[in-house]
Amino acid sequence: MRLGVIFCFLSLTIYLTNSEKYYKEPKQFSLLKDYESFLDEHRDYKENDLRYKNVTFLKLSQANFLRMKKEIEAHHSAYRLNLTTFDRKLQRWSDLSKVEKMRILCGTKLPRRARAATTNAAYLRILKALPKVPNGTQVNNCHFPNPIPDQQTCGCCWAWSCVQVVEHQLMMLKKQRVQLSVQQLLDCDTSNDACDGGWPTNGFRHMEIFGMTNAAEYSYQQMHQPVCKRAFYRKLLSPNYIAQQMEIEFKGDEESMKKLIMRIGVAVVAMHADEEFLSITKGFYINDSCPKNDPNHAMVICGFGTDENGEYWLIRNSWGSSWGEYGYVKIKMGNTCGVASFAMWPIIIGERSLNPLTGEVEDKFFEKNDEEYLRQ
Ligand SMILES: *[C@@H]1O[C@H](CO)[C@@H](O)[C@H](O)[C@H]1NC(C)=O
Ligand SMILES: *[C@@H]1O[C@H](CO)[C@@H](O)[C@H](O)[C@H]1NC(C)=O
Ligand SMILES: *[C@@H]1O[C@H](CO)[C@@H](O)[C@H](O)[C@H]1NC(C)=O
Ligand SMILES: *[C@@H]1O[C@H](CO)[C@@H](O)[C@H](O)[C@H]1NC(C)=O
Repeated sequence: MRLGVIFCFLSLTIYLTNSEKYYKEPKQFSLLKDYESFLDEHRDYKENDLRYKNVTFLKLSQANFLRMKKEIEAHHSAYRLNLTTFDRKLQRWSDLSKVEKMRILCGTKLPRRARAATTNAAYLRILKALPKVPNGTQVNNCHFPNPIPDQQTCGCCWAWSCVQVVEHQLMMLKKQRVQLSVQQLLDCDTSNDACDGGWPTNGFRHMEIFGMTNAAEYSYQQMHQPVCKRAFYRKLLSPNYIAQQMEIEFKGDEESMKKLIMRIGVAVVAMHADEEFLSITKGFYINDSCPKNDPNHAMVICGFGTDENGEYWLIRNSWGSSWGEYGYVKIKMGNTCGVASFAMWPIIIGERSLNPLTGEVEDKFFEKNDEEYLRQ
């Protein structure tokens, strides 16, 4: 009897919670069932977004959702017939307009000053002179100290990419597993535009000059805050710990880029992410008609290899782990969408570093890769 009452009460509570919608149901038209399920599925991300209470917005959102659903279902059918090498699925942002999706997911733009000033031509010459990477070499440096990031509604891929590359270097070179503050870059790096985009090399320069605080204290807020709080929190990276910001314009010289990844582990790349790229779920990304010199999105490159579809780059994104394959994607070599146009990384100083310009190997991490390299 008493159990029965409790059970009834629970069901009623569940019923009330579920029926309470965060979006406004329009009087003029009814929302499609599929769209409503989509809104319910992504409630956690959308319930505080007041735009879903605006019927005009909701109507547009439903139209976007339907367009993407149709496109993605067609792509998925083609994937099942082996007509394409990668699969797509609806993501929580699939109901937004293309402009809006690009705004929140991407966020890389070429810097205001001339790029040539930072391009390190000397290092590129060293890479070119090194012996060719043997065919079939597989390199996977995709072990990171922290989970796949999710930039959510802030176009700051540049900041997440910078932070992850430094965290990776600290882990490999110093055996330190830390989480650095992306929010510091959003609030304090005046050479970039926080959620409106930036260029990774500028982010590394900020880290070099000011050092970096920790993410636990200076946590990610998905927005630019007017006050830079860098001075209030404990630093994990001191100023001048980064000795130099490196940027090479490879212009599709993938042979040299492979040699770089074998030596330094991971780097930031800037490529052109198209609408299609935003909904990848698994497979091998190929797009031969994408621009190679129009970067809008920064990601971390962490390996390369060959599978039945050919040679690929291994890329780690910052759109959560439900995008791609647990947050990663394989991108076809051949400078697809400009993935091999630029690479950026910092040189971290310390007792175990190497001389980047002579290429003199002093560090265990570099030795390990070079041993593998020589064994081929
Ligand atoms: C409702 O959404 C539409 C479309 O996004 C927008 O143009 C309009 O300004 C919004 N209205 C309000 C009151 O926010
Ligand atoms: C697709 O390719 C896989 C692997 O090559 C094969 O096992 C499968 O039968 C193919 N499917 C179709 C529909 O051709
Ligand atoms: C390596 O690959 C290239 C390009 O695919 C090819 O031309 C070359 O013959 C291959 N070399 C060996 C040793 O297999
Ligand atoms: C590839 O990229 C182009 C340009 O960015 C885009 O229009 C196209 O839809 C993408 N996909 C394919 C299969 O070409």
